[in-house]
Amino acid sequence: MKISVSYLSSDYSPEKTIYLIEQSNADYLHVDLMDGGFVPRKNFTIQSLTNLLKNHELPLDIHLMVFDPLIYIKDLSRLQPEYITFHLESTKDIVKTISEIKKYQIKAGLTLRPDTPLEEIYPYLSFIDLVLIMSVNPGLGGQKFLEESVNRLEKLYEYRQANNLNFQISIDGGINNETIKKVSLVDIAVSGSYICKSKDYTKQITSLKETNQK
Ligand code: DX5
Ligand code: ZN
Repeated sequence: MKISVSYLSSDYSPEKTIYLIEQSNADYLHVDLMDGGFVPRKNFTIQSLTNLLKNHELPLDIHLMVFDPLIYIKDLSRLQPEYITFHLESTKDIVKTISEIKKYQIKAGLTLRPDTPLEEIYPYLSFIDLVLIMSVNPGLGGQKFLEESVNRLEKLYEYRQANNLNFQISIDGGINNETIKKVSLVDIAVSGSYICKSKDYTKQITSLKETNQK
C-alpha cells in the first residue's frame, strides 16, 4: 500500500509541511484544491499553488473539490502531476474532463461524495486510472472516518476483479493507525492530520504501511 499525504490540516505553514512530507517516506503528495463553491472553503489560486509546489519532488496526487474541473486542467498540467482526480458530482462533462486530463499524459481519477451511490461511477471505470473513495464529506481535514466506506471499498474491489479492470483504488478521510486496518484492500491511502499533526511524519507513515505490506 502506498501513502499519499495531504497537507491541508497542519500546524505548520503549507511550505514547511510540504518540506517535511518531502523529507519523509511518503509516496505521494496529496494536493486538495477547494473553490469555495463545490465545498465551502477556498484554498488556492493557480499562481499560489504553482509557487507553493515549484520545488516539489514527490509525485503529485491532485484532488479537485471544484465545480467545472475542466477549466483547471491545462494550468495544473504544468505541475506535471501523476494523478488529477475530480468529483463525479462537480460537472456534466465527465468524459470530456477525463480526456482533457489524459491529453496531458496525466492519469485520470474520479471520486464521489460518501452519499452518492457507488454505481454512478461504474460507466466510467474502463476510462480511468484511479477511483478515490471519500471516507469523509469533502472539504475539511480531521473528520471522523465514515464506517460505511468499508462496504463501498469491498464492493468496488469485487467489481474491479469481476470485470477485469485495472484502476487503482484510493481512500481519503479519517485514515489513522486504527482505520487503516479496515481498508487494507486499497492501493493508495490518503492521510492528512494523522501525519501532519504529529512531530515525526516518517514514524506515522511507517505505522500505516506496517499494517498492510501490500
Ligand atoms: C478532505 C480532504 C482530505 C483531507 C484528509 O476533504 O480531501 O484529503 O485533507 O485529511 P484527514 O486525514 O485529516 O481526514
Ligand atoms: Zn483529498
